[in-house]
Amino acid sequence: MFLTGTMRVNRGGRLEIGGCDAVDLARRFGTPLYVLDEALVRQNCTAYRETLRRLYPRSQVAYAGKAFLNMAMCRLVGQEELALDVASGGEIYTALKAGFAPEKMIFHGNNKTPEEIRQALRAGLGRFVADSISELELLASLAAEERKIAAVVLRVKPGIEAHTHHYIQTGQLDSKFGLGLADGQALAAVCLALDAEYLEFCGLHCHIGSQIFELEPFRLAAAVMMDFIQEIRSKTGVVVRELNLGGGAGIRYLPEDTPFPVQRYLELITATLQEKASEHNLPLPLLLIEPGRSIAGEAGSTLYTAGAIKEIPGIRKIVAVDGGMTDNLRPALYGAKYTVLHAGRVEDRDLEVVTVAGKACESGDVLIRDAKLPSLARGDVLAVLSTGAYNYSMASNYNRFPRPAVVFVRDGHAELVVARESYEDLVRNDLLPELRTAAGGGSDRCGSQKCTA
Ligand SMILES: Cc1ncc(COP(=O)(O)O)c(C=O)c1O
Repeated sequence: MFLTGTMRVNRGGRLEIGGCDAVDLARRFGTPLYVLDEALVRQNCTAYRETLRRLYPRSQVAYAGKAFLNMAMCRLVGQEELALDVASGGEIYTALKAGFAPEKMIFHGNNKTPEEIRQALRAGLGRFVADSISELELLASLAAEERKIAAVVLRVKPGIEAHTHHYIQTGQLDSKFGLGLADGQALAAVCLALDAEYLEFCGLHCHIGSQIFELEPFRLAAAVMMDFIQEIRSKTGVVVRELNLGGGAGIRYLPEDTPFPVQRYLELITATLQEKASEHNLPLPLLLIEPGRSIAGEAGSTLYTAGAIKEIPGIRKIVAVDGGMTDNLRPALYGAKYTVLHAGRVEDRDLEVVTVAGKACESGDVLIRDAKLPSLARGDVLAVLSTGAYNYSMASNYNRFPRPAVVFVRDGHAELVVARESYEDLVRNDLLPELRTAAGGGSDRCGSQKCTA
């Protein structure tokens, strides 16, 4: 077992997060419920911001909104002086509604639509991260049409891809994101960005993966990018001002996970930039990083209520909860593993092995296989840990489940920041036209007369 942030076991043996009893939270707000430990999110923001500022003053931390975004999170991130990565018109809209400064938004995505680009140009977004030549051309023409200068950063594939404990280094990466170095696309995009009247070429970006536990791929990526900055200067005479190294730091989902300390990661990438800058006699670029998971992930927990309990003799015991793949897609999507606690009896030592399943109509809707939990009864509250990133943001209405509420907890106070969806919300955008059966009959406002409308 492990506890994160402000979590503790209270005198009643129950889980407490942000000074709030988890079983009480479940009763008060219902389940499934996303609970975010606000103090831990702020602590993570501060650790990134302050450490980076100390090591490398010309820097900016941007929170990757795709990990977990709603209006309250935008406000929190703004208060913590972080910039914000947005990856869609919906994320831009949410952030603007929350009063987030547009000039501190960085617009990502591999297929921004013309409408999204116009929306971003009109709102005055700080950076456009162009992912392809085709997108760059679209951006150049829309910026000219709108008579607005778009500040552009180019997303480059540094030829390093890392996930969890593995990384690969290849010359030619088969990834849908970014511009290739080896095939000359990245350099061609630089020239295009420099030539376009309404584009301001600001710098380069790369992102090598997510939930990474090794430091070496980050060092390599930083080095490759600095070498490319040198190549750009030698071929075009232009000195790149800005380098964004993306996100990717791993977090703890299981007790045995060992994420690296943020400080070591920041020391390594800043030292690499400094070494490479002196090797190539380049000025130090402005450095940006974009953590998502490592800001929000461990700060989030999901509370569920246990329902049906099924014993499959000789095989397994299944406890079904009132959520599942609709609020946490990651186990079904890519086999992600999580830790679960009995929120009412955290330290109970009398454990049994159970599988925690969701309630969606999919056999793959299993949250945790072979969890060790005290014996459960219908109505018990379970807490799945480290669900702060890529859970709420990936939630769906499959089976027409309303999406759960989100609360921020801090100092014994719980603040509802996203209301639970209602059944009415589920049908809000549904339309009910008069439909005809194949035989042409059925209810039809035109009655027996032929309808020409
Ligand atoms: C461009 C970019 N930046 C940042 C991130 C955030 O990564 P993480 O949540 O692993 O820190 C992602 C995640 O996919 C990304 O695509």
